[in-house]
Order: sequence, then C-alpha cells, then structure tokens
Amino acid sequence: MSPATKPIDVSTPAAHLRLVSDRAGDASGIKLSGVSKTYRTRDGDVPSLRPLDFHINDGEFFVVVGPSGCGKSTLLKLISGLLAPTSGEILVEGEKVTAPHGNVGIVFQNALLLPWRNILNNVMLPIDMKRLPRPQYLDRAKSLLRLVGLEGFEKKLPWQLSGGMQQRASICRALVHDPKIMLMDEPFGALDALTRERMNVELMRIQRETRKTVLLITHSIPEAVFLADRVLVMTERPGAVAAIYDVPLPRPRSLDAMADPVFTELVQRIRKHFFSQGTLD
Ligand SMILES: Nc1ncnc2c1ncn2[C@@H]1O[C@H](COP(=O)(O)OP(=O)(O)O)[C@@H](O)[C@H]1O
Ligand SMILES: [Mg+2]
Repeated sequence: MSPATKPIDVSTPAAHLRLVSDRAGDASGIKLSGVSKTYRTRDGDVPSLRPLDFHINDGEFFVVVGPSGCGKSTLLKLISGLLAPTSGEILVEGEKVTAPHGNVGIVFQNALLLPWRNILNNVMLPIDMKRLPRPQYLDRAKSLLRLVGLEGFEKKLPWQLSGGMQQRASICRALVHDPKIMLMDEPFGALDALTRERMNVELMRIQRETRKTVLLITHSIPEAVFLADRVLVMTERPGAVAAIYDVPLPRPRSLDAMADPVFTELVQRIRKHFFSQGTLD
C-alpha cells in the first residue's frame, strides 16, 4: 500500500522521520546545477535566469526573495517541469526533471478554485485529473481540510469562503496527492496584511506536521525571514543568486519572532541587497 492510500498521518511524526532518513543523502531534495533560462521571443531573446547552483534539502523551508521580473516564477516553473531550462540540470529526489512530474504540488498567488466544484471536490481535482482511485484519497483530502481548519466547509462552494480560506483549500489541493515538495509562488500576495500573517503561521504549522520540503517565493523580505530555514536572495533580471542566508530563529515560531533582534538584523541585511541594486516592488 503506498503512503498516499492512507489518510494523512500527522499524529505519528516518527513515520515521517523514518521517511526523511531513508531518503537522506545527495539524492534527496532539489538540486540545481548551472540552470539558466532565456525565453526566445519574436522580438529577440529575453535572458531570465543566469546559471543557478543551489541545493534545497529534504524537509527544508526554503524561501526565494527577489525583485519583480527577476525570474522567480520562471524558477518555479523549471523545477515543476512546466518549462525546460536553456542550460543545466535540475534533480528532484535524485531524478532529472524533463517534464511535469508528480513530485510537486503547486500553490499560486490566487487560489484558482473551480467555482462550480465544492471545496472537497476542488481539493480532489489533482486526483481526478491524474485518474487516481478516488475512494483512496477522499479520507486524505478530508484530513487535510481538517488540518487547515476547514472541517465543515467540504460542501461549500468557493465563493462562500473568504480569500484566506480559499487559499488554505488550494494548499490542500497541492498536498492531496502527497507530493514530496510544495512549490508556492507568492501564495499570500493577494491577501490583506492580517490574513497574510495568520496564513504564514498556519503554513509553518502545516509544513511541520506534514514534513514537506517547501520552496516559497515572495517579494516580502519580512515574510521570507519569518518563514524560512534559508533565504535565497536574487538579483535583478536576469536573476542570479546574490546570497543565501541561514535563519537561526528557533522553531516553532510565533509572530513574536519578528521582534527578535536576529529577525530585524537579517531583514536589514537582505534589504541592503536591493538598496544597492534599485528597488523591490
Ligand atoms: N513566456 C515568456 N516569454 C518571454 N519572456 C518572459 C516569459 N515569461 C516571463 N518572461 C520574462 O522573464 C522575466 C522573468 O519573469 P518571471 O519569472 O515571471 O519573474 P518574477 O516572477 O520574478 O516576477 C521577466 O522579465 C518576464 O518579462
Ligand atoms: Mg512571478
């Protein structure tokens, strides 16, 4: 029986820890070697990413921060296999990415729920699209909805939920097929500041309980530092790695972490990258 056929197991972390140690070593996580991307357009070439080399560890919360247009979404599409790199190689869980693959779940800026499907059926969408056996995943979908506080909303239509609740449902949809990795492209950019903070705390809890590897993209420096184990700072387009910072704040983190001198110092340091380059939007 594959892990995906069982309900999500958030009560026995030992099972997940075993999974992590089984996969330990170089083959785990995401590895980029010399990955660049140039878009070929009718008006000429658009260099979007300069060669990138970095490794995201298994179970890591990795955040990429960079100015608008520097290639952040391009990076995410390359890792998910939706786009092919111009040069270099991407390994996910030790396997070279050559096409869209099931190892990732993706969350976009807008929840993008289908308005005619109820919340449970929106979460089940990847299962239906991949023609996986529905009954085996229904319990998992319901457990995920419970995990994000949406129990009782399964039969509601998207418009009956707030923006934050819709985005939580889209996180469940990204996790329902039990991918190893969650890719998130400015997932909270459309939310108001208070909801966004709440979602940040919620997301850290989900990541801790599901032990997923998370790659999150944002252009908010405080959000990056608050969430991340490590923050990758990108340059202006064509994006390159300007720096990678460890975030030595203890976990679990509450919003109080933002008052920690380590937090404020790191935010300042990352800001300096952009003051010297131009602006962050
Ligand atoms: N399909 C495309 N064709 C040509 N240029 C593109 C395409 N997609 C993105 N770009 C360009 O590549 C650069 C990086 O885009 P993107 O990855 O969306 O940046 P970000 O997410 O950091 O704002 C931008 O200058 C953008 O205009
Ligand atoms: Mg983008």
